[in-house]
Amino acid sequence: MVGRPHLVIAVDGPAASGKGTLARRLAAYYGLSYLDTGSLYRATGLAVAAAGAAPDDEAAAVKAAQTLDPSRYSEDQLRSPGAGEAASQVAAIPAVRSALLEFQRGFATTPPGAVLDGRDIGTIVCPDADAKLFVTAQPETRAQRRHLEHAGRGDALSYEDVLADIRRRDERDSGRAVAPLKPAQDAILLDTTELGIEAAFQTALDLVESDLNERGQSA
Ligand code: C5P
Repeated sequence: MVGRPHLVIAVDGPAASGKGTLARRLAAYYGLSYLDTGSLYRATGLAVAAAGAAPDDEAAAVKAAQTLDPSRYSEDQLRSPGAGEAASQVAAIPAVRSALLEFQRGFATTPPGAVLDGRDIGTIVCPDADAKLFVTAQPETRAQRRHLEHAGRGDALSYEDVLADIRRRDERDSGRAVAPLKPAQDAILLDTTELGIEAAFQTALDLVESDLNERGQSA
């Protein structure tokens, strides 16, 4: 907080684990910028579809990533189930990841520092982050949360469809050759299955504080 130098906090985890909410709140608490890196992959997936190509079309996906303008898409478009699925497919293409890497690193190194959430922030994008959280929750709990979110936006998807989508993405994200979803060796694990938003945030804050203290970044 006050008195701390440039801070970078990495928050990784699978879909609907709560990492986005926690990362956004941590950024507000520490006065840092916030980047939802999943939205970069989601926007890339949407841009590929807009170009009339399939998400596994490598040339189209790389071109979309290199010329990306995420502001072209609304929050509803970015958060749609189709965008999540397309994101997970383009994210498995190594050249797409390389095209998005520089922007993410540049964001992290820009003052006042940042909280980034994604799948590979602690392992690849910011391996020297000052604190690293890996947020998990049981797939069924994550599916319930995502199902509620979709329902709130009027997306008519069943709970079973959402759970299947989450399992499919978990498997693809964890199994891909490049930057798979996995905790960095020095990440602290936080399971939010049994925690409401407030309790999860307080726990995340305690964990980040102890991580910062251990790495010599205490106030
Ligand atoms: O976090 P979110 O669900 O928005 O991410 C959408 C997809 O983007 C993920 O399923 C994953 O395949 C990909 N992604 C990634 N690396 C990141 C962030 C997201 O591969 N740092």
